[in-house]
Amino acid sequence: MKFFLDTADLAEIEEAASWGAIAGVTTNPTLYAKIGGKLSDFHNHIKRICELVDGPVSAESVAMERNEIVRDGLELAAIAPNVVVKVPTMVEGLAATKELAAHGVPVNMTLCFSVPQALLAARAGARYISPFIGRFDDISDDGLAQVESIVEALGNYDFSESTVNGERIEVIAASVRSAHHVTQCALMGADIATVPVGVLKKMVQHPLTDAGLESFMKDWEKVQ
Ligand code: G3P
Repeated sequence: MKFFLDTADLAEIEEAASWGAIAGVTTNPTLYAKIGGKLSDFHNHIKRICELVDGPVSAESVAMERNEIVRDGLELAAIAPNVVVKVPTMVEGLAATKELAAHGVPVNMTLCFSVPQALLAARAGARYISPFIGRFDDISDDGLAQVESIVEALGNYDFSESTVNGERIEVIAASVRSAHHVTQCALMGADIATVPVGVLKKMVQHPLTDAGLESFMKDWEKVQ
């Protein structure tokens, strides 16, 4: 399983990249707003992220109509070779994904909440499909079960005719809120988990590691 960092914060990206932990970054309009980003600086900011990370960087189109999404997507893709265009799962998004894929632009279909949505995204030519976990949990539903179903359903078929250069579609478990989510997604065979830095830090921690380290340090004092 690979990990992407779900953030637009350059310091967080730099820090996580230094751990050798992340293979890419995902951003969205909320994450960009959260760091005080401005529209006029958006493309520059994505460029800076692309320079920090040796892997795919998802940048989202906020257009609602297919031609506008395609135009946006082509502009975003021109920023750097590792840009992936994030497109919402909706009819206009599917049409735009088909066209972007025809231009050789990798698309991450986002806001995906069901197997039928994921299958349509795959048929449209998406390179990545992002089912959201936490937002299902927020409405007292089971987000992990949806990821499991999506991984299983996509695994039943060959989508290589739809994707750019016949590349395999990868499932990005998104809206990940805990290390438990990561464990479960790994067991289900999700290809990637995109995680906030807080979850990445939790993934490193274990109380037995802390206790073991403390006792090793104490015992080491005895040999001084
Ligand atoms: O990248 C999109 C996704 O990870 C959003 O997460 O926590 O806002 O539902 P969240």
